[in-house]
Amino acid sequence: MKRLNFFGGNWKMNHNLKTALEFCTNSKTLNWSAKEKEVVIFPPAHLLLPLKKDCPLSVGAQNCYYEDKGAFTGEISAQMLVDEKIEYTIIGHSERRSIFKEDDALLKQKILKSLDKGLSVIFCVGESLEQREKNEHFSVIESQLKAALFGLQLSDASKLVVAYEPVWAIGTGKTASPQQAEEMHAFIRKALADLQLDAESIRIIYGGSVKPSNVKELMQNPNIDGALVGGASLKAVDFNQIVNY
Ligand code: PGA
Repeated sequence: MKRLNFFGGNWKMNHNLKTALEFCTNSKTLNWSAKEKEVVIFPPAHLLLPLKKDCPLSVGAQNCYYEDKGAFTGEISAQMLVDEKIEYTIIGHSERRSIFKEDDALLKQKILKSLDKGLSVIFCVGESLEQREKNEHFSVIESQLKAALFGLQLSDASKLVVAYEPVWAIGTGKTASPQQAEEMHAFIRKALADLQLDAESIRIIYGGSVKPSNVKELMQNPNIDGALVGGASLKAVDFNQIVNY
């Protein structure tokens, strides 16, 4: 089955309104292969609405909370994203897991609520360098997937994208080799099938130091359906080169 390539630009805590709008202006001059690929940028929350208005690309949130509203200082809910017609959210990025101590149980609640509200979820999994060196990477990924997705009833497989992001490759300039990435993506697809999910339809994308110079090699593998790009998504030209690898 043909899976539509998915490319996400995770801006993290970068860009202000002025530079974000410059990104939009530049992106208007570029071809994003909109019919053949799903391309979404994930700006900091305060830029979601201005970018939704001005950017030719879809926009999504980097995170959201499962409660709809109330006394949760600092949070934005899945419901609030839906209210503003934002259609995507990342959940479980390794920076959320490690810096903000988000655990598997919390991530499961966020995923369930986001999907229930109709958002598309980019769910991140990944092992640390220490875990890979100890040869624990497969068991770590399997347990992250099980903890978050066990029992999930997914009516539309296009609404869940799994991002494999080895922590040691994020922002380090070190990419997993295409073989390492493909091996893990095939493993993830099998794990999704074991969880009774439509594994052949769910996109599995790679993240960790993806750039114009290494994307092509990664994308040549049958189980790699796109990329989640951090640093190299901050400039429209670079991100565009990645999308059009
Ligand atoms: P990077 O980040 O491309 O800067 O390594 C990827 C990510 O964290 O999603």
